[in-house]
Amino acid sequence: QIKGFVFDLDGVIANTSAYHAQAWHQLADELDVTWTEDLGNQLKGVGRMDSLNLILKYGGKENDYTEDEKIKYAAEKNDNYLKLLESLDKSVILPGMGEFIKDIADHHYLISLASSSKNSPRVLEKLDLAKYFNERVDPVTLKHGKPDPEIYTRGAEILNLKPEECVGLEDAVAGVKAINGSGETSVGIGDPKILHEADINFNDTSEVTLENIKKAMDQMSD
Ligand code: G6P
Ligand code: MG
Repeated sequence: QIKGFVFDLDGVIANTSAYHAQAWHQLADELDVTWTEDLGNQLKGVGRMDSLNLILKYGGKENDYTEDEKIKYAAEKNDNYLKLLESLDKSVILPGMGEFIKDIADHHYLISLASSSKNSPRVLEKLDLAKYFNERVDPVTLKHGKPDPEIYTRGAEILNLKPEECVGLEDAVAGVKAINGSGETSVGIGDPKILHEADINFNDTSEVTLENIKKAMDQMSD
């Protein structure tokens, strides 16, 4: 029996994953690391410092910078990202997601946010969706980032629900792995070839409805 939904933010609720990618791409250029679509996919859902380390590793530069320099580069990426957020409004909400969130709230499901982003409260406020969320996991309090299940485990806990009572929604490979590890039902939104580990796949957010999720879950238990 599903009682709650645990949401990723960037790439699930809003198109802000494109902004993150743009800001990282800008930094990768500066660090002389070639940007590829594959690198972009690896970074999805991954926290700020871990993302920088992945980029450096990808470019074979993992030993080229001191911790202080890395902190400076991570801050620079965030400045780039914040600039892109300045013009953020409801138009970046992905198709159907505003309606879906309102619908599950109307049906008294509990809702929490499991985003790795320290900027998520600001984004949700700007999108006027914060009011639907009962709780949010603060990524600063976590020991491990996605793909570790911790963030999704906590996402259920703060709603006082068991993981089996929750559905997690993700656009990232690392995120789907995290949901699966937590014992929640995973919904992967995006290319099913990339997100093949998800329990339920939707090609895009417009397919994410309560009815479609219920249907897919019935088929899982058949
Ligand atoms: C999300 C995004 C990642 C981003 C991470 C940290 O998981 O998908 O692209 O790197 O959050 O975001 P932050 O805003 O804290 O740098
Ligand atoms: Mg995401």
